Amino acid sequence: MTFEEIKALDEQHVIHTYNRKDLAFKKGKGMLLYDQDGKAYYDFLSGIAVNALGHCHPDLVAAIQEQAANLIHTSNYYYIEPQAKLAQKICAHTCADRVFFGNSGAEANEGAIKLAKIYHYKNGHPERIEIITLRNSFHGRTLATIASTGQKKYQQAYEPLTPAFTHVEINDIEELKRTINHETAAIMLELVQGESGVHPIDKTYVQQVRKLCDENDIILIIDEVQTGMGRTGKLMAYEHFDIEPDIFTMAKALGGGVPIGALCAKEKFAKYFVPGDHGSTFGGNFLATTAGNVIFDVFDRDHIVQNAHDMGVYFRAKLEEITKGNPLIKEIRGIGLMVGAELNEPIADDICKKLQDNGFLIGTVAGKILRFLPPLIVTKEDIDKLCACLSSLL
Ligand SMILES: Cc1ncc(COP(=O)(O)O)c(C=O)c1O
Repeated sequence: MTFEEIKALDEQHVIHTYNRKDLAFKKGKGMLLYDQDGKAYYDFLSGIAVNALGHCHPDLVAAIQEQAANLIHTSNYYYIEPQAKLAQKICAHTCADRVFFGNSGAEANEGAIKLAKIYHYKNGHPERIEIITLRNSFHGRTLATIASTGQKKYQQAYEPLTPAFTHVEINDIEELKRTINHETAAIMLELVQGESGVHPIDKTYVQQVRKLCDENDIILIIDEVQTGMGRTGKLMAYEHFDIEPDIFTMAKALGGGVPIGALCAKEKFAKYFVPGDHGSTFGGNFLATTAGNVIFDVFDRDHIVQNAHDMGVYFRAKLEEITKGNPLIKEIRGIGLMVGAELNEPIADDICKKLQDNGFLIGTVAGKILRFLPPLIVTKEDIDKLCACLSSLL
């Protein structure tokens, strides 16, 4: 099909929830995506932090092909070898003792919220139902996760919202202390707010939150849907903060593009879910967890997380260098390969379009922030190419 034919079909039949760009891709390899006409683009967005190993990594493709030919799905009525193996890998690499698999980030967060509530319920505290999250956070698009998301624009049309979510200001420990009460069940944090413009949280704040949770039997949930699996230059972002969450969630990069979500918990909490309390038809099926296993194996073999760290340092330094003294630039920020450049003028979408015309894909936030989420296999040469183009545009 031509691009025009695809666009016409989509416009006619797909519900219009996305403002799509005038592009459709046909093929991908490593850092590159190829459009319908064969034009190549360096992908500095990775399907919004999903394609950690770039596009169509040969190990991932081979494993998925082999698994698809053997068995794609049974149900969770039966044991599933790659699911058990992936859970073991997650537990070996993180502070989790047990894992529940779903299909997306929002679903993983829903599971985390349910687990926090059931922990208090089964401990004789059914009144502890309140979840505190941050203003400007993003936790997903389901009804409970839009209620937990601290952004009015996602909520207005869907009121009344799922009750008992409260929002506090990032890095304001006093407001959090004032907000905690006898009904508080959990505090849920993104350690780097991605969707709202790449805002890392203060380390001291996170450590104070951990302490408050310990003192008050409040569950600390860390949403690592975007930050997890190496994105920040550590396997999990919580490692930067020298804390361990009670529960954390992952999704995006875990399957390298195959939909998967994971709710990961310490035994103290995980044991409160028993048969009937939670479930998923597709969650953790053969195909998705086979992909997850390959991601872990390639990460270990090819030192992918170290590359994310090293390239993150290089990328931010390079962005500082090419924007130094430029009045258009307000701030370069981020951690690992989660990088944002805030502008002083609302021209982020123009820059994004011009980069696209020149064969580079990035994201934007609120018209003022350039958002970079390259695959974790990105090289200095790739970064140099993007920066040369960006520098000429700026
Ligand atoms: C921090 C965070 N949590 C949750 C989600 C929701 O994930 P999904 O779109 O897979 O439901 C996202 C998606 O961008 C995210 O960035």
